[in-house]
Amino acid sequence: MSYVETILKDLFEDFKNDHLEDGRLVNLKGWVRTNRNNGSIGFIELSDGTTFLNVQLVYSKDKVDSFDAYTHLLTGSAISIDGKIVLTPENKQPFEIHVDHITLLGAVSEDYPLQKKRHTFEFLRDIAYLRPRTNTFYALARVRSRLSFAMHSWFNENNFYYIHTPIITGIDSEGAGQVFDVNAKKEDGKPFFDRPVHLTVSGQLHVEPFALAMRNVYTFGPTFRAENSNTPRHASEFWMIEPEMAFCDIHGALKVVESLLRYCIEDLLVHCKDELNFFNAFVDKGLLNRLHQILENKWKVVTYTDAVEILKKAVEEGHHFDNHHIYWGMDLQSEHERYITETIVKGPTWIIDYPKEAKAFYMKQNPDGKTVAAYDLLVPEIGELIGGSQREENYDLLKKRMEECHLLKDDSALWYLNTRKFGGCVHSGFGIGFDRFLMLLTGLSNIRDVQLYPRTANQVKY
Ligand code: 4AD
Ligand code: MG
Repeated sequence: MSYVETILKDLFEDFKNDHLEDGRLVNLKGWVRTNRNNGSIGFIELSDGTTFLNVQLVYSKDKVDSFDAYTHLLTGSAISIDGKIVLTPENKQPFEIHVDHITLLGAVSEDYPLQKKRHTFEFLRDIAYLRPRTNTFYALARVRSRLSFAMHSWFNENNFYYIHTPIITGIDSEGAGQVFDVNAKKEDGKPFFDRPVHLTVSGQLHVEPFALAMRNVYTFGPTFRAENSNTPRHASEFWMIEPEMAFCDIHGALKVVESLLRYCIEDLLVHCKDELNFFNAFVDKGLLNRLHQILENKWKVVTYTDAVEILKKAVEEGHHFDNHHIYWGMDLQSEHERYITETIVKGPTWIIDYPKEAKAFYMKQNPDGKTVAAYDLLVPEIGELIGGSQREENYDLLKKRMEECHLLKDDSALWYLNTRKFGGCVHSGFGIGFDRFLMLLTGLSNIRDVQLYPRTANQVKY
């Protein structure tokens, strides 16, 4: 009989389907999470990377030839084990593996920074390359992977094409000017590109032409912003999902968002159940409750104008905001957004119809002449999760607005304007901050702990 190389995910799956026989001989490869012994029996918690669950390996002095060597296997060691499945229906773990032989594949030196005790998030950020070995970050990386997959699945099932938009671009689509310049020099010393270029802040402008040919499209990639705002919700590099739908107005767009977000949350509750239970137990005790509330409750729509009234009333009633000068036309700050979604609505909240001066040039101008058909989704604990709008499809109105925003000084944005005279139509889109969505789904309260290699001002250690 020989040991069959296998993975833990398959063993748990077989167990669930009643196919895991007692006594099956298996070979597993993985990393030691913990190792303890009482002099005659030892126990290793092994993680093999294929599921969130670990398996317990049991080695006994009277059955293995190198008991002492096994007791010295340190946390983090990479090992290969031959052993036998033993079903343990009376235990918390449904089965364990009784070891016949362990081969050390990669030893761990004494200065391995991760030990069994709990480490602070700050400490772990400083050893970003070892974070995947911790339960929290391992769970996060698995949720991150599954969330990408769930997003793509929803789009695929709903007739959206996946469009790859460029990273290097000449347009600052959000017009905020917070861009990372890029260029290089050719052999002759001249600049590589013949115009100023930077890393994209959003794929929207490049995805729109595809919506105007393929109807429903989305782009999903990294975006870059040189905002020097040191908050738990801002990163210099973050991922964004940006759908764009032709023949779709603001009302259609809100439905798309709800359907997509609900689908993703439901998917994770099923496919990352162990991880979400872990986050609920160790990171944020209110997490599962909050996610279920998001699914069960109706999401509220509030106009910007009403939001300002709500905030004014709050100030009158003595509520303290750092920024307490509330007036129509102001930019809502995070503290204002959170007050509305957490204290007033207590759930996801759409703010729609913002003043046009507060928003990007491409947004559809409302008939009132003052506001645009913008919609931001605010959620408890995070604030803004999504920003979107119906787009201005009228050539003349868009041209005027682009001129006001000095976007037609050169030809870098002219092609965008031209889409409005070559078969343009009503269309809408939005951007979901992927990393912020992960914060909502895990309860991790700092964006640096949901990104694998976070970049913020002065921080690129890895
Ligand atoms: O609201 P924003 O700036 O919208 C756009 O970029 C549009 N072009 C989207 C579109 O209509 N296609 O950004 C969208 C979302 C925000 O709601 C937020 O969740 C996230 O991106 N975001 C950030 N996430 C992390 N760090 C930052 N610095 C972020 N800036 C925006
Ligand atoms: Mg925004």
